[in-house]
Amino acid sequence: MARILITSAIPYINGIKHLGNLVGSQLPADLYARYQRGRGNEVMFLCATDEHGTPAELAAAKAGKPVAEYCAEMWEVQNRLGQGFGLSFDHFGRSSSKQNHRLTQHFAGKLAEAGLIREVSEKQVFSNADKRFLPDRYIEGTCPNCGYDRARGDQCENCTKQLDPTDLIEPRSAISGSTDLEVRETKHLYLCQSQLKDRLDAWIDSKSDWPLLTTSIAKKWLHDGDGLQDRGITRDLDWGIPVKKGDEDWPGMEGKVFYVWFDAPIEYIACAGEWAEANGKTEADWQRWWRTDKGADDVRYVQFMGKDNVPFHTLSFPATILGSGEPWKLVDHLKSFNYLNYDGGQFSTSQGRGVFMDQALEILPADYWRWWLLSHAPESSDSEFTWENFQSSVNKDLADVLGNFVSRITKFCRSKFGEAVPEGGEFGPQEQALIEELTTRVRAYERHMEAMDVRKSAQELRAIWVAGNEYLQSAAPWATFKTDPDRAAAQVRLGLNLIRLYAVLSAPFIPFASARMLEAMRTEDASWPDDVATALQALPPGHTFTVPDVLFAKITDEERESWQARFAGGRS
Ligand code: 2FM
Ligand code: ZN
Repeated sequence: MARILITSAIPYINGIKHLGNLVGSQLPADLYARYQRGRGNEVMFLCATDEHGTPAELAAAKAGKPVAEYCAEMWEVQNRLGQGFGLSFDHFGRSSSKQNHRLTQHFAGKLAEAGLIREVSEKQVFSNADKRFLPDRYIEGTCPNCGYDRARGDQCENCTKQLDPTDLIEPRSAISGSTDLEVRETKHLYLCQSQLKDRLDAWIDSKSDWPLLTTSIAKKWLHDGDGLQDRGITRDLDWGIPVKKGDEDWPGMEGKVFYVWFDAPIEYIACAGEWAEANGKTEADWQRWWRTDKGADDVRYVQFMGKDNVPFHTLSFPATILGSGEPWKLVDHLKSFNYLNYDGGQFSTSQGRGVFMDQALEILPADYWRWWLLSHAPESSDSEFTWENFQSSVNKDLADVLGNFVSRITKFCRSKFGEAVPEGGEFGPQEQALIEELTTRVRAYERHMEAMDVRKSAQELRAIWVAGNEYLQSAAPWATFKTDPDRAAAQVRLGLNLIRLYAVLSAPFIPFASARMLEAMRTEDASWPDDVATALQALPPGHTFTVPDVLFAKITDEERESWQARFAGGRS
C-alpha cells in the first residue's frame, strides 16, 4: 500500500470561491485523493483557509466585523461549501491556527540560525487616519503619466505604467480616503533566497517528470534578470503571526507579523498537526507524513494549484524547507492548472462575475458541477464555462449515457425478473468482448488518473459508460427475453453488475451519484476492479436491489436561459 500526501492550494478567507477557483486546486485534488483511496492506498488530504494579509483585514472591515470573528465565520462557510461539493479533506484547517503560529515561528527561528535572514530598513507610507502602514496598492492618487485619478501606488490601471506610491499626485489611502499620509522608516526581515539558489536549481533539475510549464516557471525565476531575489517575509499589520524566533521575541520586530505568503504554505504542515489534535492522534501520527526522519521517506507528496501559485511552491516554500536544515518532506509532484473563464470573460471575485460555490449548489447537485468542471479542467490551456456547454455535457454524459443505463437495466429487470439479480444463462462472446474492451479501458483510466490527466480520465470514464450502453443496445435483453429468457437473464445480470462497477470507477468524479448507485444495488463492496471479469460477478444471482430514482435530471432550455440571465448581472 502506497502512502500519498495531497495538498490543495489553500483558498483565501475573504469571500466565497467561484468555480474557477474550485477547479484550479481543490476539486482535482479531491479527484486524486478519492481515486487513491479507491485503489486502497493510504491518503492524507489536507486543505485550509488562507487567513492572513491585507485582503482579509479589509474584507472584515467591510463586513463591519473584527477580523478574527470574520475569519471564523468565513471558515465555517467555506467548510460547509466544501462538504457540499464532496471535498473529502482529511482535515480542513486554518492558517491562523496555533499550530501554524508555532511552526511558522519555528521555521523563522531555524532560518535565522542558518544565517538566512537579514534585516532591511525601508521607507513606507503610513496613514495617520488609518493608523497603519499602507501596502503600495492601497494608496490611490492621480497618475503622473495619464492623469487617471484612481491610479494605484504600484501601477496605473489606465495606462499600465508601473509606479511608486511617491509618484502619485495627491495620494490618499484607499482604505479611508485620508490624505494625511507620511513616509516612515520601518525595518523588515528578508529571507536570503539568493543563497539557496544552487540548491533549488539542483532540486528542480532532479524533477525530470515535472511538466514543462512548472519547471520553466521555476527556472525563469531562478535565472532571469538578476536571478532569485531575497524576499521580504514580514509586514506592518495587526492581523497575522507575530514575528518571533521560535519561542523568543525578535528585537526590533515588535508589532510586526509574517507575510501571508510566508505562513500560508507552512500551514500545509501545520494542518496535519490540527488533524492530529482534532482526531485524538499523536505527534508521531502526523509527523510520519511530513518528517522524512519519522517515516515520511516513503510518502509521495503531490500538490495541486493554479499556475499563479507555481513560483511560491517551486521556490519560496522549498527555500523555507531547505533553509531550515530540518528533514521536512519536499513536494514530489506538482500539478498546476490554467484558468477557467466565464462566458466570454473572466471569473472575478471583486466584480462578482461568474458562478460562486454557494450559488452553484443552490441550483444543482454537486455532481453536475463536478462532472462538468473536471471534464473541462483547464489543463493544457485556459478553458471556458458556457451555459450551453454545461447543459449539453450534463444532459448527454450524465443523463443520457450513465443515468439512462442505470434506469433501463434496473427497470427492465424489475419488470421481468423482479428486484433481484436473475440466475440462469451464461456469458457468451458478446459479453467476453465487452469485458475485454472494459479491461483495456479501465487500465487506461488508471494510467490517466495516476498521471493526474484529469480530462483524459474523464474521457475514458465516459467511454466506459458508453461501452455499457452500446452493449445493452445491441444485446437488447427485452428482445432476447421473448425467445431465450435464460440468455436475457445473463445479459441483465451483467448489466446490474456493471452498475456496481460504474459506481466504483465513477466515485472520484461523481461521489454522490456513485453512493446512490451502490445503495440501489444494496452493496457496500466498492473494491477496485483489478480484474474486470471478476468484478462483473460481484453481485451473484439472487442478490436484491432497488430501482433508484432518476440519477440525473436533464437541464431544460428554460432553466438554462433563466440561469444565464440570473448570472449575467454579477453577484449583488
Ligand atoms: O492563490 C491563493 O488562493 C492562495 N491563497 C494560495 C495559497 S497556497 C499555499 F501556499 F498556502
Ligand atoms: Zn496612467
